[in-house]
Amino acid sequence: MTTVRVALGERGYDILIQAGLLARAGEVLAPVARGRPMAIVTDANLRPQLAQLQATLSAAGIVSEAIVVAPGEGSKSWETLARVVDRLLELGVERSDHIIALGGGVIGDLAGFAAAIVKRGCHFVQVPTSLLAQVDSSVGGKTAITTPAGKNLVGAFHQPSMVLIDPQVLDTLPPRELRAGYAEVVKYGLIDDAGFFAWCEAHGAALLAGDGEAREVAIAHSVAAKARIVAEDEREISGRRALLNLGHTFGHALEAETGFSDRLLHGEAVAAGMALAFGFSAAQGICDPADAARVVAHLKAVGLPHDLASAGVDASGARLVDHMRHDKKMEAGTLPFLLARGIGETYLDRNVDLAAVAAFLDRERAGA
Ligand code: GLY
Repeated sequence: MTTVRVALGERGYDILIQAGLLARAGEVLAPVARGRPMAIVTDANLRPQLAQLQATLSAAGIVSEAIVVAPGEGSKSWETLARVVDRLLELGVERSDHIIALGGGVIGDLAGFAAAIVKRGCHFVQVPTSLLAQVDSSVGGKTAITTPAGKNLVGAFHQPSMVLIDPQVLDTLPPRELRAGYAEVVKYGLIDDAGFFAWCEAHGAALLAGDGEAREVAIAHSVAAKARIVAEDEREISGRRALLNLGHTFGHALEAETGFSDRLLHGEAVAAGMALAFGFSAAQGICDPADAARVVAHLKAVGLPHDLASAGVDASGARLVDHMRHDKKMEAGTLPFLLARGIGETYLDRNVDLAAVAAFLDRERAGA
């Protein structure tokens, strides 16, 4: 078992990583359950994982109750949040109880937000079942729902009290979803760890093909990186945590252009967004074009979108920049961009000229 600590003082917690952990989660959770029942929030696609979790809880003497929501982004809504919160209250959840979030990013965000507001905040445990959730969203305490005004605009910082990661659950994940989650793994190498990017180049394809050891190495490395960044800047104030948004501003424009739909999954948009961030950095003379080409080559090699065309987007630079202006990261009329001086050398630039971004995207669209 690998244990990674998120060092946040009294809000600190452990991330436990082990193949087969889901099947023995009961013994890990028994001390925190303290004989109380546990509520599990999950989605209807995860019935087999839910059955496994309830069996191990039961074997450890823990009574559990499942709250099952519809799969998909649509569940990050006021309506579903209200249903989950009402059910938790009906079940008599107390502040010192631990709610379990069993699922991908949607479930973690939804159940985490419910835990943040029920009784003004109770505990929750993340049991992430997608690669994206295992390496990114289950760690760090960002919780949110989506409203008509935009994605993730309503939420809270609420840290889980434990994260249980079982890489084996990825075996049944659809390959496209696995690949999309892998973009967030590559992100950690690009941010500040050139050695890890080289590891991705060497082992990424094996990881995606089912190599269990490669998966465990990548997950442990990724969560350790995330834990460090979150411990330094929990609420994204100093700018350190903002580095985790590499590729997200370009990606947000691509997601908006494709209607935040299955046409382009979030991780796929982040992949193309990272390639564009490196391409823009190279075009501005900030980054060696050879590094930008290496990013594109790796994403392409593993079958991830790496430019506008492979992301399925055919829109003008002006239109894409207009989507960026609606990004929640807009601050006093400027948009902080994550640019790169090279692989592993990402930095935050608050003075990027949006006209230059639009011109770059037009050249990309024209294949120039
Ligand atoms: N996924 C970005 C963050 O947790 O800050």
